[in-house]
This record gives sequence, structure tokens and C-alpha cells, in this order.
Amino acid sequence: MRRKVVAGNWKMNTTVSEGEKLAERLVDADVSAVDVIVAPPFTHLDRVGSVLEKTDIALAAQTLSVDTFGAHTGEVAGEMLADLGCSYVIVGHSESRGRGENDEIVAQKIERAFETGLTPIICIGEDEEVYNSGERLDFLKGQVRSALGAVDSSKAFMFAYEPIWAIGTGKTASADDAQSVIGEIRGELPKEVADDIRILYGGSVKAENVEGFLSKDDVDGVLVGGASLKADSFKAIIDGASHV
Ligand code: PGA
Repeated sequence: MRRKVVAGNWKMNTTVSEGEKLAERLVDADVSAVDVIVAPPFTHLDRVGSVLEKTDIALAAQTLSVDTFGAHTGEVAGEMLADLGCSYVIVGHSESRGRGENDEIVAQKIERAFETGLTPIICIGEDEEVYNSGERLDFLKGQVRSALGAVDSSKAFMFAYEPIWAIGTGKTASADDAQSVIGEIRGELPKEVADDIRILYGGSVKAENVEGFLSKDDVDGVLVGGASLKADSFKAIIDGASHV
């Protein structure tokens, strides 16, 4: 039985103080029935981590460097994130891929995540052009296979299917469509772990649609952007996910 996941990706939003206040408002969320993760910006991790320390809400970073300690100005190493209390790291988000994070870099980041004890949340997703081309599944399976080349299947990892055309647009895949794509993605996973790996849907998830996605057999969780920036809407999503 795969436990459901609700992950909030704050992206580059909120000041540190605002982020800390948002975290304070999550402390009383009932997270007993689902795994809840928040991914604030790097600058917020220490203070948000301190607020969430007394809860079962886990901390994630939004990315990590392909390198370890050294002369890499502006980069943040997985070791630093683990030391700050992160247990997860998002890799391959389409907004990072859009800035040059190709499959090869994603693979290196996955390896660094495993080396530093972080669980990677590996994002994949097609843009509108690929969606309309009829090549969607081939494209997604290519992203999955490339990522799997870097995966240590003795350790935990997750995939998040986020169609780019659904991110921040208010458009979503239908729950049936998410189920069918995620079912195909599961089919690409190594047999011995395919039933254990959690695969999330992301793209304009909110309280009103979360239950529809999570009622599908293969959809194990949601990765939430915009609706994770308000405590009330994020808690309503956690609540909805807890009742599926
Ligand atoms: P959204 O973002 O919920 O604002 O569409 C999802 C994501 O990018 O992870």
C-alpha cells in the first residue's frame, strides 16, 4: 500500500519572514493520514525547518548542485541541504529544465541526491507541442528511462508527472488522463520496485480537484505550486488527500 503524498513547491515566492509565518500556520495541520512535504526556497530552509521540526511535515529543497563542496559560486550542495534537515529534493522541475537542466544534468542531480541521503522527487512532463504531437508517451518514457539510469532502486525515490501546459495555468489533465499516463510511467519502472514507487501528479492542483486525482489507482500524490502558498488552501488539499 503506497501512502499518499502532498508536496508543496513554494518556488521563488515569499520573503523568509513570510515563509516562516506560512510554515507556522501549517503546524496544526492534520498530517496523520498522508506524507506532507514542503519545498521552500534555499534561503528559507533553516527557519522554515525550525518551525516544522516539531511536526511530521518533511522539508525539501527545490534543486541541488551537481557538484559537491568546492569552487562553485552560487551553487548549493546536497550535503548542505541534508545538514539543514531536508529529506527530499525536487529535480528536473520543468522550470529548471527550461533554464538548461537537461536529462543528463537531471541524472547527475539524482545521483547527488542519493549520495547525500536525499530522496529525489523526479519531475517529468511534456509541453503543449509534445502533447499535441501524439508523441507524448514516447517523450515521457524517454525522460523516465534517462532518470532511471541514475536511480539507485534500493533507495526511495518518487516521480512527479507535471504536464507543463497545466502548471500555473488553471488547466489540469483530467484525472483519467493522469491515471493513464502515470500507469504507463509505472510500467517503465524496474519490476521489483514498481509497486512501491510513488508517482505524483502536478499542475494546477487545488482542494477542489485533489480527490479526483487521488482516487485513481496509480496516482499516489500531488505536487502543488500556487495553492501551497496559502496555508488554508494547502491544508484543504491535505484534508482532501486524507479522505480519499
Ligand atoms: P501549480 O504548480 O500547482 O501552480 O500549477 C505545480 C508545480 O509546478 O509543481
